[in-house]
Amino acid sequence: MQVFEFFAEPVPHLVISNFFSAPNRASLMNSIKRLEHLMTAGEMEHNQTKLRRILPKKQNLNLWVYERPDDGDCQNIAGLIEKSVWSEVMKKEYLKIRDSLFQHYEKSNYSQILLSKYTRGSMYDWHKDLLKSLTANIWISDDEVDGGDLYLKSNFEEIKKIKYQDNTCIMYPSETMHRVSEVTNDVVRYSIQYFAQTLYNQSKVVDV
Ligand SMILES: [Fe+2]
Repeated sequence: MQVFEFFAEPVPHLVISNFFSAPNRASLMNSIKRLEHLMTAGEMEHNQTKLRRILPKKQNLNLWVYERPDDGDCQNIAGLIEKSVWSEVMKKEYLKIRDSLFQHYEKSNYSQILLSKYTRGSMYDWHKDLLKSLTANIWISDDEVDGGDLYLKSNFEEIKKIKYQDNTCIMYPSETMHRVSEVTNDVVRYSIQYFAQTLYNQSKVVDV
């Protein structure tokens, strides 16, 4: 059964344990494993590339799921995540939270899904995601992972560590500074980043 914990500090974030049912988790893991051979070394996006020349900011493997819309495994991943993120139970949780990003989330739409694989030495340094919505960071691993934890930082430099745990979803504003610490043992740690887009971005502009 899903367990919801909301925290207001250092930035509003929702932690959902036991995110997928056992059959859905198994189905998701099978799809991820069949796509694994397509994953390529991660790179920083857009204006963050300059930073990469100074510091190796991102060391992991990635696949954008929506770049392969005809692939059955990609469709399975997208379907499972969308159904889970916008389930009736989740919508009720969003509405309970006194934060506009969460309250508007049920009026959002799918946008992008990024599948990532971390092994020993993988990490992702401080960065922001590019959308102005919520990031759902979903963790799946069959192993006991040392490191690979998520750190969230507020505008006032307050930092919180969230320990990596299988079958957990963390939701936070995409513009939050965050990082993933280095994985320090011989394991495979998967994560799925789900970036949704608020519907007003797609709505018609009406002349007044
Ligand atoms: Fe990120």
